Amino acid sequence: MIDFWPYPRWIAHRGAGKLAPENTLAAFRLGASLGYRMFECDVKLSADGVPFLLHDATLNRTTNGQGLASKLNWDELSRLDAGSWHSPPYTGEPLTNLEAIAHFCLDKALSVNIEIKPTPGSELLTGTVVANVAARLWAKAPPGLVPLLSSFQPEALEAARIAQAHLPRALLLNTLPPSWLETVMRLGCVAVVGKHTLWDTVRVQRAQSAGLRVLSYTVNDTSAADRLWALGTDGIITDRVEVLSPAS
Ligand code: G3P
Ligand code: MG
Repeated sequence: MIDFWPYPRWIAHRGAGKLAPENTLAAFRLGASLGYRMFECDVKLSADGVPFLLHDATLNRTTNGQGLASKLNWDELSRLDAGSWHSPPYTGEPLTNLEAIAHFCLDKALSVNIEIKPTPGSELLTGTVVANVAARLWAKAPPGLVPLLSSFQPEALEAARIAQAHLPRALLLNTLPPSWLETVMRLGCVAVVGKHTLWDTVRVQRAQSAGLRVLSYTVNDTSAADRLWALGTDGIITDRVEVLSPAS
C-alpha cells in the first residue's frame, strides 16, 4: 500500500451531500462547518475551457439554465442561479469553478477529491485540462493537500497522467469487471473508489495487496460505514454530513 496517504477518512459528497446545493461553495462552507476536512466534487469544462463544478452534462436539474453546460463560456455560466432549485435560502448561489475551490480549500487547509466528470466526448481534453489547472492552482500547496483526481473514465485518467503524472489518481468503479485491477494498475492509480456494495474481504485484500488504497461511494448509513471500516478500507464518501461524524 502506498505510504503517502494524507487524506481524511471521511469525504463530503458534492460538498455537503444534499444539505446544500451540490457542487457550490455554499456546500463546501456547510460541509466544513460540520467538521468535514475533505470534499468530493464533479468537474467539467466550459466552452472556453474553464474547469467548473457541475454533476450533470446539462444545466437543467441544478441551475436556472437549460441545455448542455459545455456550450456556454464560464462568463455565462457564472451568472446562473445554482441554488434556487435546492431551497429558498440558497437563491442566487452561483456555480463555482476549480480556481475558487482551490482558494477556499487552501485557505482553510482542506483536502479535495476532484472527480473528472467529462461532458461525453470530451474525456481526453477534460482530463488534460483539469490536471493542468489543478497542478497550477495547487503548485505551492503543502504536500498533504495535493488534490486527489478520480474518474469513471479511464481515458480521462490516462490524459491526466500524461499531463501531470505527479497528481494522485483513483479509478471510480460502479461494477467490477474481470479486469478491474489491471485497469487500475495500468493507469498508475494510487486508489480505487468503488460503489460501496462491491467491497468484500477478498476484493479489498486484492486491491490493498496490489498497493492500492480502497475507498467507497456513496455511503449514507452507519451500518454500511461500519462494515467498510471493519473491512479495513481507507475512505468513505457520504451525503449524510449531518449524521455521520467525520470524527468517527
Ligand atoms: O466520486 C464518487 C461519486 O461522486 C460518484 O458518483 O454520480 O455522485 O458523481 P456521482
Ligand atoms: Mg461525483
